[in-house]
Amino acid sequence: MEAGTTPPGTGAPDVASGAPGIRAEGVRKEFSSRRGEVVALDEIELEVHPGEFVSILGPSGCGKSTFLYIVGGFVEPSAGTVVVGAEPVRRPSPERGIVFQEFVLFPWKTVLGNVTFGLARKGLGRAERKQLAQRYIEMVHLHGFEHHYPKELSGGMKQRLAIARTLATDPSVLLMDEPFGAVDAQTRVVLQQELMEIWERTKKTVLFVTHSVDEAIFLSDRIYVFSQRPARVKAVLEVNLPRPRSDEEIRASAEYAELHRELWSLLRREQPEELGDDGP
Ligand SMILES: Nc1ncnc2c1ncn2[C@@H]1O[C@H](COP(=O)(O)OP(=O)(O)OP(=O)(O)O)[C@@H](O)[C@H]1O
Ligand SMILES: [Mg+2]
Repeated sequence: MEAGTTPPGTGAPDVASGAPGIRAEGVRKEFSSRRGEVVALDEIELEVHPGEFVSILGPSGCGKSTFLYIVGGFVEPSAGTVVVGAEPVRRPSPERGIVFQEFVLFPWKTVLGNVTFGLARKGLGRAERKQLAQRYIEMVHLHGFEHHYPKELSGGMKQRLAIARTLATDPSVLLMDEPFGAVDAQTRVVLQQELMEIWERTKKTVLFVTHSVDEAIFLSDRIYVFSQRPARVKAVLEVNLPRPRSDEEIRASAEYAELHRELWSLLRREQPEELGDDGP
């Protein structure tokens, strides 16, 4: 699907992608502890159309992870609702795969073991699980490492494994929390490219959290900019760059320069010292 071709506001399954949309209305989250109350999110309105790739960009600590966990069903909002497809989110579901900000791998399981683990509840036989896991291991270019343990992998490889493990369960919605935050700049570009290819092939609905202006522009159909805490939606920008995108072509385009300038001017008024390292 191309950016902007889905009618907004339906939230209903799209024929082309088969994936559900996401709609958040009036989402607020307060945390209370002995030290007082923290309002993380305030009246968040957000929509991801079926099969769309949407990023959330915002300063550190503003509430991005909290929002993603609410969409994932891991955290309950203090007010407001999130609907995925036609269903209000109340608890985690295998339909909503999440890649967490920190690597969450099973250190005692091999690459193959980590990927097959999530397939247990699919009711597949052992051989089928292994075959399916192998497909996703190949998709993220980890073949040859099936019998390695996470501690024997580099940061980028661990992140690929986390992505393969989530993709293998075939969720229709992919929630990704700064999945490339812990890898070096070169690996990050490679992983972004791989994610784009996978998304273009599978047409999942993706909600992606990032600190990086470059990454948000390169990947997204639309970008939500969150304010500093309590997070509110500060702006929503359309990215009308043609797909498939190549890193060099995108960076050379006038639209990229304009988006980059606009996003930085929005973010600069928040917490500039805490932003990613790809500033102007
Ligand atoms: N379980 C919790 N209990 C209390 N406060 C929390 C909890 N989880 C998050 N917070 C607070 O909510 C605010 C938002 O945190 P969150 O992790 O969502 O930010 P973030 O935008 O993802 O930050 P970063 O970009 O650094 O990952 C922070 O002030 C944090 O301290
Ligand atoms: Mg976070």
